[in-house]
Amino acid sequence: SRFSVRMTTAHNTGTPDLVDFNWDALGFQLVPTDFMYLMRCSSDGVFTNGELVPYGPIELNPAAAVLNYGQGLLEGLRAHRKEDGSILLFRPHENALRMRIGADRLCMPAPSVEQFLEAVKLTVLANKRWVPPTGKGSLYIRPQLIGSGAILGVAPAPQYTFIVFVCPVGHYFKDGLSPISLLTEEEYHRAAPGGTGDIKTIGNYASVVSAQRRAKEKGHSDVLYLDPIHNKFVEEVSSCNIFMVKGNVISTPLLTGTILPGITRKSVIGIAQNLGFQVEERNITIDELLGADEVFCTGTAVVLSPVGSITYRERKVEYGKNQEAGVVSQQLYAAFTAIQKGLVEDSMGWTLQL
Ligand code: COI
Repeated sequence: SRFSVRMTTAHNTGTPDLVDFNWDALGFQLVPTDFMYLMRCSSDGVFTNGELVPYGPIELNPAAAVLNYGQGLLEGLRAHRKEDGSILLFRPHENALRMRIGADRLCMPAPSVEQFLEAVKLTVLANKRWVPPTGKGSLYIRPQLIGSGAILGVAPAPQYTFIVFVCPVGHYFKDGLSPISLLTEEEYHRAAPGGTGDIKTIGNYASVVSAQRRAKEKGHSDVLYLDPIHNKFVEEVSSCNIFMVKGNVISTPLLTGTILPGITRKSVIGIAQNLGFQVEERNITIDELLGADEVFCTGTAVVLSPVGSITYRERKVEYGKNQEAGVVSQQLYAAFTAIQKGLVEDSMGWTLQL
């Protein structure tokens, strides 16, 4: 079968459990792996016959709804390799549910939670050799749901495809765990009320790269978006949610429809509460954020990234001393990653062992 052909042609490392790869060089770049999962559904809205196939390009009609009208969703989750060789998925049910909510918004049928979980498990296990050794990174899992059917007018596609591919990753930002530098954006907005800012639709990411490029050209790591009505309340960063720490209170913008309901966001809120912090989900002004003790971002890709500075209207505010992460950010990062990596007992039941 295609399955065994691929397994034998992949590089031989002597250690059959792991591919021969320079794990120390991992960043957040695409690395082709062995298999991806594909499952299609036609107009009846029922997904069937999902299968693992060799990783590679897929064929799409140029009139596919996803290519013309952006009818598509993505998800992101991680798998970590434990010392004992087992693999831990972090809160995959949450991704399955979020994809279903997004699908509803975009008039797409979606895989059931069970189908989603099965697809993720199969894809990770088929690419097990690509799960980085403990401490060297993790396997980023990218489920996608796209309107693959051809259509000319603006309407839901007649067919859909669910895809899962995986990629070994290290740190998202180029300076690893060092605090990031954010540039506040006032001209462009990420999302508007009634729009799609609260689902993981692909278009949300196409629209942020222009301001992101501008910020990077000025030496910043990424863009901080403000609300589109007052240009005053903090929303989120291109690919992650934002939090501030002031004394014993940790605050993050309330989910009012323009903000992505991050799974890391939700997890960090729970962890902070368990650690005795007061957590508030509310509107936060940019001025308040600039006056915080610490600021950090959360996301599956960025994990928990401390913010070293925020620039707003030519004024640069720095957090912490000597570009070091604040103590609360460090404490939350440690607590969060310990659960993800299976270093502590998972009292929340967040991980799924493969
Ligand atoms: C994630 O955090 O997994 C994301 O989806 C962000 C991604 C756009 C890089």
